[in-house]
Amino acid sequence: MTEDTENPNANRSTLPTESAFRSYISGDWADEARPSPREREQVPFCVERRRALSAEFTGLTLVIPAGPSLVRAYDTHHPYRAHSTFTYYSGWGSDTIPDSVLVLTPNGTQHDATLYYRFPAGRGTDEFYTNPDIGEFWVGPRPSPDDVSVELGIPTRARAELDEMLSHADSSWRIIREADSTVTAEVDSARGTATDADADHDAEFFRFTSEQRLIKDSFEIAEIRKAVDATALGFNDVLSGLREVVEHERGERLIEGTFNRRARAEGNFNGYETIAAAGWHACTLHWTRNDGKVNDGDLVLMDAGVEVESLYTADITRTFPVSGTFSKTQRRVYDAVREAADAAFAVVKPGIVFKEVHAAAMNVIAHKVAEWGFLPVSAEESLSEHGQHHRRYMVHGTSHHLGLDVHDCGQARAEFYKDGIVREGMVFTIEPGLYFQPDDLTVPAEFRGIGVRIEDNIVVTATGAENLSAGIPRTSDEVEAWLKRQR
Ligand code: GLY
Ligand code: MN
Ligand code: MN
Repeated sequence: MTEDTENPNANRSTLPTESAFRSYISGDWADEARPSPREREQVPFCVERRRALSAEFTGLTLVIPAGPSLVRAYDTHHPYRAHSTFTYYSGWGSDTIPDSVLVLTPNGTQHDATLYYRFPAGRGTDEFYTNPDIGEFWVGPRPSPDDVSVELGIPTRARAELDEMLSHADSSWRIIREADSTVTAEVDSARGTATDADADHDAEFFRFTSEQRLIKDSFEIAEIRKAVDATALGFNDVLSGLREVVEHERGERLIEGTFNRRARAEGNFNGYETIAAAGWHACTLHWTRNDGKVNDGDLVLMDAGVEVESLYTADITRTFPVSGTFSKTQRRVYDAVREAADAAFAVVKPGIVFKEVHAAAMNVIAHKVAEWGFLPVSAEESLSEHGQHHRRYMVHGTSHHLGLDVHDCGQARAEFYKDGIVREGMVFTIEPGLYFQPDDLTVPAEFRGIGVRIEDNIVVTATGAENLSAGIPRTSDEVEAWLKRQR
């Protein structure tokens, strides 16, 4: 590349372009010594996952891009994260090279997998020092093709060869359209006019991958376990630092920063924007501004999860009193939510319908708010399809699938999701809450501004369920003891 044509910063760059410099920087580099690559633990699982694709899409070419690095502003980018579909079938996690593409080409009833990615350009080129997007002086080493193919068990090809490959696309190709708009445009262009039928077939392909991910294999469950364990450490860190939190004008930001520090140390990042909501902010379900003060009498609702290097995430919420002790009303609300969570957990086993988990939680919530006199109707009437008054205090659902995405399996059809049968190996959240808005005239003043959610991560076993986050204190007594311990 030349500075003037391709470097967007030619207006401010002072990098010399003269031949003396170019020749001096290109020579006298030692051969790299890298550790020998080893096949990653997920490889056999990815082989099985791709086998399921072969059975469903025999004879079709399947294109699964990792996606580009997203621009934050001008020439700076968001932290890179591969599309989850790519990671699911390739096994490449946080160290994925942006713009990589997994292509599965039919071979009889099976498929051959090929991973296209940007190979290291080497010291003989000028890319390593001139290209801030992918040059090794700017972004660090890129792995060799041999290393990637050993680690992921997939043959590799240079990313530059992909365009030619894509030019052969026809109606027997399927692509995950959402992952990389440039690659999708190339496939569409080769297929002729992008017909609705092509787009529908692509959507079916995406939907299949999402439904395949509803049941986790043992590698996935182990990774989610790791994510939950790392998340537990982040919660402990926050509880240990509460003194500093209450002294700062924006204590919520300190909570967020403390959790995210642990997420970076133990994993790749947080799996979604951390919610650190003190006092009435807890009634804003996705409070991620986190710029409020944390006061001594407040409850803090913290919803956070570590995403590990394989890109699986936890999604945990705990609500705790900053003072160390729940007030009578806070405890009343907290215990009601915990009862709802326990009731939901108690019904989980293979064979039930997913939405029964929500129904079990709602049964408790409706009876509690009816008992407290907040409803204009009976609990039974509220629970009926035409009532639902209690949902004023909990407008969100009780459960969602969890895995590579915090809201995993988002393309799955309702018949496999909310109306689907719960099966062994599913991982989902149980997260009832009660939120009494500060301006809610249907509740007594002492309830206003209290928001409580308890969120756990559940794996379905052969006979019931295991709460993966049971080790993070849950009951009001346990939470008070936890605060005392961490201080
Ligand atoms: N953290 C988002 C959720 O609980 O669904
Ligand atoms: Mn959550
Ligand atoms: Mn959740």
